[in-house]
Amino acid sequence: MADRRIALVLKGGEVVDATGRRRADVAVDVDGFVAAVAADLDAPRLLDAGGCIVAPGLVDLHAHLREPGGEEAETVETGSRAAALGGYTALVAMPNTVPAIDSAAAVREVLELGVKALCDVRPAGAITKGRAGRELAPLAEMAALGVRLFTDDGAGVQDSGLMRRALEYGSALGITLAQHCEDASLAAGGHMHEGTWSSRLGIPGVPAEAEEVMVARDIALSALTGAPVHFLHLSTAGSVALVRAAKAAGALVTAEAAPHHFTLTAEEVAGYDPVFKVNPPLRTEADVAAVKAGLADGTIDAIATDHAPHAQEAKEQPFDQAPPGMLGLETALSLSLAETGLGLDRVLALLSWQPARIAGLDADHGGPVAAGRPANLMVLDPSARWTVDPARLASRSRNTPYAGRTLTGRVRHTLLRGEPVVLDGEAQR
Ligand code: DOR
Repeated sequence: MADRRIALVLKGGEVVDATGRRRADVAVDVDGFVAAVAADLDAPRLLDAGGCIVAPGLVDLHAHLREPGGEEAETVETGSRAAALGGYTALVAMPNTVPAIDSAAAVREVLELGVKALCDVRPAGAITKGRAGRELAPLAEMAALGVRLFTDDGAGVQDSGLMRRALEYGSALGITLAQHCEDASLAAGGHMHEGTWSSRLGIPGVPAEAEEVMVARDIALSALTGAPVHFLHLSTAGSVALVRAAKAAGALVTAEAAPHHFTLTAEEVAGYDPVFKVNPPLRTEADVAAVKAGLADGTIDAIATDHAPHAQEAKEQPFDQAPPGMLGLETALSLSLAETGLGLDRVLALLSWQPARIAGLDADHGGPVAAGRPANLMVLDPSARWTVDPARLASRSRNTPYAGRTLTGRVRHTLLRGEPVVLDGEAQR
């Protein structure tokens, strides 16, 4: 093939997307689109995908990039570099920045920062002004800029009447409200999951019910208003059961879970190391099993990282003073392959095409890998082994709970609109 419009070919891999699997090369044209998916394609530039999976880039529904206001912990640039290395071609940036992303001006600022990022960065907007939970933010002006997900993440919307109004207004705008399910009065003063380990360690706990009462409330409010609700970082068996029953009854709800909630339990907190502090907190083995069952049976639609970088000084405070949050973008794919018990195709559905749909990004991300589609792709070497070294992560922060863990499966190349932003495991800018 001597088509001079072909920029490169991903050679020798197995293509996996929502339509299935096939051995094929993938040609990408100079405009950043997939030109062909077929055997024996050729081009002056070949990227080796031998022994690898070629798939749509991953899409993260939930990443904290900290810009503006928290640049000591992360920036759009560093967070997007971590994302690209993790196989992501798009992410939704959470609005709990300083100031919050609660206006068109703030949305524009993040979109502008995203222009030079190593993946597409789509801000979520806040539901309430300043995420204070008192007055609705100008949802329409943010929706007009393409914002599709709205959340006060970091806090749930406590006022049920206000949440109802947000849903009514949001459904007219065609947007989705995403809830951080946490009843503030039940969670008040807690720093870890309330249970055996909190009693043993003498750390005040947050009961599972703090999450579950808000999941139940928002299922009811979704039914009342006819508006969709997306549940962020589900962490308890009770929440999974509520969402499962709601879906069976036809509710317009979707849900995500974070890797730390299916790989770690509250027992990790025994050393009082704040790297294991996160909100919602690490739960019990039964909760971990329920989250995995929810991923397996479709109750949970997406794996989202809740990538939450924090500067070392902040995370080195005593457990009760340290902020909650863990890094996630560079480890999510390997952990999901290792610990969900699901096959590669299902894991990619949870990390790529299903979240792409929830975020409204499926025109550009999440595949299928087919001629004419934007070449937002990642190449995974499923047998590569690597050890998590916090000092070598691209994030500006170091707070990974998986330091020293050896994982299988590593991203070899990531293509953003045809441009190799990660090549042979190295970020290109
Ligand atoms: O652990 C968490 N960290 N949970 C949240 O909801 C917020 C996040 C953060 O912004 O650090």
